[in-house]
Parts: sequence; structure tokens; C-alpha cells
Amino acid sequence: MAAAGRDRRRTGPRPRILFAAAEVYPLIQTGGLADVAGNLPPALKALGYDVRLLVPAYRRVLNGAGDAVVRAEPRIGETGETVRLLEAALPGHGLPVYLIDAPDRYDRPGNPYVDASGADWPDNAARFGLLGRVIDRIGRGQAGLDWRPDLVHCNDWHTGLGPALLSRSAPRPATVFTIHNLLFQGNFPPEAFDALGLPGVLRSPDALEFHGHLSFIKGGLACADRLVAVSPTYAREITTPEYGCGLDGLLRHRGAALTGILNGVDYAAWDPRRDLYIPQQYWVDDLDRKGEDKAALQKTLGLEIDAGAAVLACISRLSRQKGIDLILAVLDEVLADDRVQVVVLGAGEAKFESSLRSAAADRPGRMAVRIDFDEALAHLIQAGADMLLMPSRFEPCGLTQLYALRYGTVPVARATGGLADTIVDAARGDAATGFLFRGAEPRALLQALRRALALFAGDAPAWRRLMRNGMHCDFGWGESARRYAGLYQELLAARGREAGAN
Ligand code: ADP
Ligand code: GLC
Repeated sequence: MAAAGRDRRRTGPRPRILFAAAEVYPLIQTGGLADVAGNLPPALKALGYDVRLLVPAYRRVLNGAGDAVVRAEPRIGETGETVRLLEAALPGHGLPVYLIDAPDRYDRPGNPYVDASGADWPDNAARFGLLGRVIDRIGRGQAGLDWRPDLVHCNDWHTGLGPALLSRSAPRPATVFTIHNLLFQGNFPPEAFDALGLPGVLRSPDALEFHGHLSFIKGGLACADRLVAVSPTYAREITTPEYGCGLDGLLRHRGAALTGILNGVDYAAWDPRRDLYIPQQYWVDDLDRKGEDKAALQKTLGLEIDAGAAVLACISRLSRQKGIDLILAVLDEVLADDRVQVVVLGAGEAKFESSLRSAAADRPGRMAVRIDFDEALAHLIQAGADMLLMPSRFEPCGLTQLYALRYGTVPVARATGGLADTIVDAARGDAATGFLFRGAEPRALLQALRRALALFAGDAPAWRRLMRNGMHCDFGWGESARRYAGLYQELLAARGREAGAN
């Protein structure tokens, strides 16, 4: 904090940041977005910023948020809705979190995006349209709060209407939009423009229109002052047709505003020295203890208790993005070696869930599958496994490989996005931490696995070197937060100069 104090004297008061996201750990999580929203704002606060979160008050959020007080009741005139803005504290950090209390839209069981059958909630345009409206109101200081941000930081399509609506106002706060996953775009039929009461000027290919439809993510991509992708490699990849999901032209056009900043890891939660979810804590100098976690994992999941077996794990949303089909395709060859075991923890697409279930049923003692979202088991797997599989077709950043590195669980991953930026292949010498492969095809995954299994079985000292190298890597949130802070400062200074010139 001493450094932040010095900075404050040099640059004046630290800006006020509104950080908006559709999920935030530990209140609600479906993937890495929640980890980022739960950890980056506290890291920015540690640098001296006044950061406040904004998230919809889903039922699970209301149940987990503890005491919340009503701060304002803005009427969203364009859609005729009145919402209550509650203020709670982010558990574990005490940061203010504004919750949008609109029971018709958010107070329902389960997942923020889909119903129990996995179908999108039919009113998602209205649900996340409301989030965008509230971002706009708070951003303009017209939500009835006694606080107004200098900069609004939005994340993924759910928040995309925020930068679009704000772009029409003057004065307005600076806007930053982080792309966690370009595949999810929030595209809705043309009628949604009128249903959401969106201003006509935004109904254009320069703003929200995408092939005649309404695209929420375009609000962020086309209208935010600065764009961030969650790794440098993903920032480059999304400007190509292969990874651009139809938006690569726009992203090339906005190239000067686009940068890549890696996510971080919450080492208070993910560290084998103090992890309370695992039966045996360990570190680089007592790696044998990791073997006790391996035995506990094998026992918990009904695998053969075998200290020498190579346990390959996957903890993931079960989707095509994550290359789950590639894992399924190599199972026979990999498990032909009877010293290999496979563990999968995940939930997602029904076809992957059922293929994985039946693959495990066919291989009792050798393969275990849990279709679930289970934080405690995720920790036990990170501690007990030998390798983590991430054959992702694309991976904007990826957090599970970063956790794996810290636990001495060697990642075997496709060289894309954040995986390419955070894993050093075994062939690259002294600093190696894992195994990378290029092609998004079973053969390439299998070759990487063969290299990994040969080293695991044949050269224990080299394997331990890989483990230790990974454990010593530092992907803490401090560095990411400093980079975001640098971006905020640069943007605010640029806007200050523009205002001065006008
Ligand atoms: P993505 O956001 O694309 O799903 P990330 O690797 O960035 O991928 O983040 C995934 C996060 O969700 C990690 O914190 C991981 O531990 C967690 N996670 C994913 N699936 C499960 C699961 N089935 N059970 C528990 N945690 C999970
Ligand atoms: C997305 C990406 C993942 C990233 C996470 C957090 O869900 O799929 O790679 O780590 O967002 O930024």
C-alpha cells in the first residue's frame, strides 16, 4: 500500500471503477469469469482503487450475499421496469457489490444463463438488457446512488449493452470491455431492438447490429474505449477468421484499442501448502506427500489404489471448446496401458456427459467420471492427479492449467490462447512446465500424451523437475491488476487530454 500511497500523491485521487459481470465468485460461478470477477477487483482495490462490483441478484446470489441494504430504486423508463439496487459485501474481501434486485428476471433457481434442461432462459435478452441499462444508469450517475464511476469495466456479452448505451452520453465515464470468450455473443432476433427500447442510432453495423440481428457483444467490441482479451495470444487469435467467430473484421478494425492481459490465480485458495480441501498439504521439498492425495483421490472415486499409476485428469465445462471429444477419442489407446487412469469432473453438453459416463462404466477402476460442479473435488483432483488434460480448440486464458501448475500436476494442453502463454513445453529445456501440441485432433493429443507418459514412467528426476518448475511459477493477480491499472490510467489520461482540447 505504500507504493499505492506514493502513486496517489503523484497522480491525484485514484479513479472509481464499476466492474460489471454476470457471475462472481464465491456468490455464483459457472466458469472462469466468476474467478476473474471475484479476484481482479480486490487486487485493484489493493492498488488503491475504489472498485465496486455490479451483478444480477440471482436467487443463489441473494442467498449467499448475507446482509444487503437497499441503496436505490431506479425506474428503467425505456422498459418500464423498476429495480432495487442492493449493496452487499463481497465475501472474503468486503468490497461493495451492487446487486440488481429484479425478481421477475433473476430470482429463479439454478444457472444464470440456462434452465435445468440446458436451454437458454427465453428472456435472456431482457435479463441482460436490464444489466446493460443499469450499467448505463450507474455510469451516468443517474441510478440514485451517491457514487459515480470514472470508468466502467464490462465483461463478456452479458454486459455489452453498457458501453453501447454509454457511448451516446456526454459526459460519460471511460469504458473498458474484457473478452473472456468470443464464442458467446448474445445474438437475438431483430425484434429485440424494439422490445428492449434501444435507441435507433445503435441499430447499425457500427454498433449493435450483426447480420440484421441484435448482438450484445458488439456493444462492447464496437463501442468500448478499450478492449482486453484475457491473454496476449488470444488477443492476436481473435483477429483471424479461424478464431474470430465472425467478428475478426471488427477486431482488426479496433486493433489499436485491443490488448491482451493474462488472468491471475487466487493463491490464497489454490495452493497445496494451505489447501484445506485436501487431506495432505505439500510443497516442492516434500512431493511424496502428494502421493497421499493421489491415494485419497483414487479411493474417493473408486479407482484402483496404485501409487505408480499415471492419473490423467480433466476438470472442465463439457463443451466442444474444451476438446472433450478429443479426450473421448484417445481413451482406448491411452488406457491400453494398464498403469494409466483417467478422471473427469465436469458438466455441460448432454452428449459429452453421457459418452463420458458410459466410458467410465466400461472401465471400472480405471476411469472415473463425476458429472457435477464440485469445488472440493476440483481441489482434490488438482492435488491428487499427475497430469491435467486441456486439449482446448480455443482457450482465451484458462485457469485450471494455472492451478495445476501450482499443484505440481503437469498440464498436457493444446498450444492456443492462454495455454500457449502459460505453459512451457518439455522440449524447451530448463524452464519446461508441461506438454503442448498444435493440431486440434486426437492424433496430436495422443502424441503429446505419449511423450508425457514416457517421461513420467522413465525419468522420475526429469518429471519432478517439470513439477517443481510449474509450482514455482507466479501467476498471482498482482501482475494482472497492475496491467489493468496501467490501462485505466492511460485511458483516463487520454480522455482528460481530449476533454481539455475540446
Ligand atoms: P472456463 O471459464 O472456460 O470454463 P477456466 O479454466 O477459465 O475455464 O475456468 C474454469 C473454472 O471453473 C475454474 O475455477 C475451475 O476450477 C472451475 N470448474 C470448471 N468445471 C468445474 C467443475 N465441474 N467442478 C468444479 N469446478 C469447476
Ligand atoms: C472464459 C474462457 C477461459 C477464461 C475465462 C476467464 O470462460 O473460456 O479461457 O480463463 O473466461 O477469463
